[in-house]
Amino acid sequence: MDNFLPPVIAIDGPSASGKGSVAERVANYFGFHYLDSGAIYRLLAYAAFQQKVAWSDAEHLAEIASQMQIRFEHGEAYLDGEQVSAHIRTENMGKGASEVAVHPAVRTALFQTQRNFRQAPGLVGDGRDIGSVIFPDAGLKIFLTAAVETRAKRRYDQLIQRGESADYALILADLQQRDLRDSQRAVAPLKQLPDAILLDTTDKNIEQAVNIIIEAFKKAT
Ligand code: DC
Repeated sequence: MDNFLPPVIAIDGPSASGKGSVAERVANYFGFHYLDSGAIYRLLAYAAFQQKVAWSDAEHLAEIASQMQIRFEHGEAYLDGEQVSAHIRTENMGKGASEVAVHPAVRTALFQTQRNFRQAPGLVGDGRDIGSVIFPDAGLKIFLTAAVETRAKRRYDQLIQRGESADYALILADLQQRDLRDSQRAVAPLKQLPDAILLDTTDKNIEQAVNIIIEAFKKAT
């Protein structure tokens, strides 16, 4: 039994593709743990912002990444013991996360942090490199995507629903820029793996996407 590793479902894809909602529901269905890897990069961007460390300063960022205490509990994110969910969910921290994530030293510093989430009875992880770098042996890999205009509209609706101001054109431009940065970077870029199932949710709702993944995992195991 020493060699037994809990199963992993890797869900990678671009920003605002619905990965988070889908991954969390799949995790709940199977009673698995859930790793929101984007939140870890967001926590780092926020920690750096608080310490006035630039998102371009790879060396200091890697240091912060290896020292910061992170924790997720009941869907909330904690940094050094403080609940910071609302702070990391902003558009600005999304941009910051994408910027700090380009540095190889940062990704190396956060590698084991993410691997530690693999606990019995299993894990659903979402991000950009879960299936390619963090858990290349994942039993099921999904590439979850949707047309960029659809993703921008969903993000827009989400912000309006939260009572925040939103500008569709700006959101669209920001998503396009993030897609480019996340997929063009030298280390662990976002890409569809040959062994990943493509799940395009442009014409699908969350429930449909969740059911497809549940069925695919049942079939794969
Ligand atoms: O999924 P998200 O929007 O919360 O992610 C924020 C940023 O973090 C994303 O634009 C790129 C980066 N990220 C990454 O590089 N690798 C991951 N596995 C997850 C997120």
